[in-house]
Amino acid sequence: MAPMMRRHWLLVGVCGWVLLILVFISKFINFRMADDYGGRVEMLNWTFPSVKSMKPLQEQLAQKTASQSPASSGGPAEFELSDWHLVTVQRLQLLSRVCKDSSLWNLTHTPLRKFVLDRIFVCDKHKILFCQTPKVGNTQWKKVLIVLNGKFSKVEDIPENVVHHHEINGLPRLSSMSDTEITERLHTYFKFFIVRDPFERLISAFKDKFVKNPRFEPWYKHNIAPAIIRKYRKSHRDSEESAGLHFEDFVRYLGDEAGRQHLDRQFGEHIIHWLTYTELCAPCDISYDVVGHHETLESDAPYILKAAGIADLVSYPTIPPGITSYNRTKVEHYFSGISKRDIRRLYARYQGDFSLFGYNRPDFLLD
Ligand SMILES: *[C@@H]1O[C@H](CO)[C@@H](O)[C@H](O)[C@H]1NC(C)=O
Ligand SMILES: *[C@@H]1O[C@H](CO)[C@@H](O)[C@H](O)[C@H]1NC(C)=O
Ligand SMILES: *[C@@H]1O[C@H](CO)[C@@H](O)[C@H](O)[C@H]1NC(C)=O
Repeated sequence: MAPMMRRHWLLVGVCGWVLLILVFISKFINFRMADDYGGRVEMLNWTFPSVKSMKPLQEQLAQKTASQSPASSGGPAEFELSDWHLVTVQRLQLLSRVCKDSSLWNLTHTPLRKFVLDRIFVCDKHKILFCQTPKVGNTQWKKVLIVLNGKFSKVEDIPENVVHHHEINGLPRLSSMSDTEITERLHTYFKFFIVRDPFERLISAFKDKFVKNPRFEPWYKHNIAPAIIRKYRKSHRDSEESAGLHFEDFVRYLGDEAGRQHLDRQFGEHIIHWLTYTELCAPCDISYDVVGHHETLESDAPYILKAAGIADLVSYPTIPPGITSYNRTKVEHYFSGISKRDIRRLYARYQGDFSLFGYNRPDFLLD
């Protein structure tokens, strides 16, 4: 009897250990998934203290634009001065001016916390940092950088599901590095990102995430849309609620700066599709070398490749004609029927993005 009992207790002990190990492993796996922004709505902690408290690099930016401007033709420029170079320098000068505007300060400045560093992808081989701003052809830029980093040899070889899988595609986030590594890269690498008209971008995000309802991203339809409808739809009728999010609900949610913070915390990473460029990339706190515009991508893409010194190594995929130009008819169509008050509140929140990047105030919607 005694040996039986001993074996019994031994078995219980072994089972206990196996259970403990399993629990530990599952914790670890969950953590990794959250880290990768897989199909989980994770909590974002907006009180997260800034990882770095670097002083704004505006002086550096001012120096850079001064030395690059054609007026001061002192030393040999890194690349040929072309008309497009002038355009990009003027954009940086405008950015620098608006960054100093104290009346827009809260709309143009953001702490360099982990959230921003998560948006920035690193190509160490060619010393490039790219800040991701969804809905402006970012997937293509990421493919370009993945090829440069060497994991794949051609843009066409990269499977679609790998492009955004940053653990296996060889395109690390800046946030994955140490403080020293981050600072060094922010100071010495070529840095760029792409913007487009802020309202057209919101329309594009709305269409992509709430109208098309991508099947592999079910949380927009099943979690985010119902939460926004509950809080922001004016009249609640059952038949309407099932029909999905209206652009009007979306506009009211976006314009409610104070009220939406609680929701945004629940929505987690997915809000990158409609946060301001300031919140995503900290353009006044990081001195970017080029800010490309989606509307002029045909000129900006080759310019960026040249400025980054990689024009001979890769090319940007062909841009289908007509898809990048601003479409006022579309903007008017989406905003028709939405109250001036709601549109003005939306503009108040995105005004920083309009001003920083030289997009005209949409008077036709606001006045
Ligand atoms: C957010 O993070 C800060 C600092 O790490 C912590 O003090 C605070 O309690 C956190 N808030 C939430 C809601 O988790
Ligand atoms: C900016 O934000 C701070 C803190 O939230 C606030 O005290 C200040 O009034 C804001 N400034 C403007 C111009 O909105
Ligand atoms: C602009 O948008 C409208 C409405 O969505 C569409 O009918 C039209 O074809 C678009 N125009 C261009 C030039 O793409």
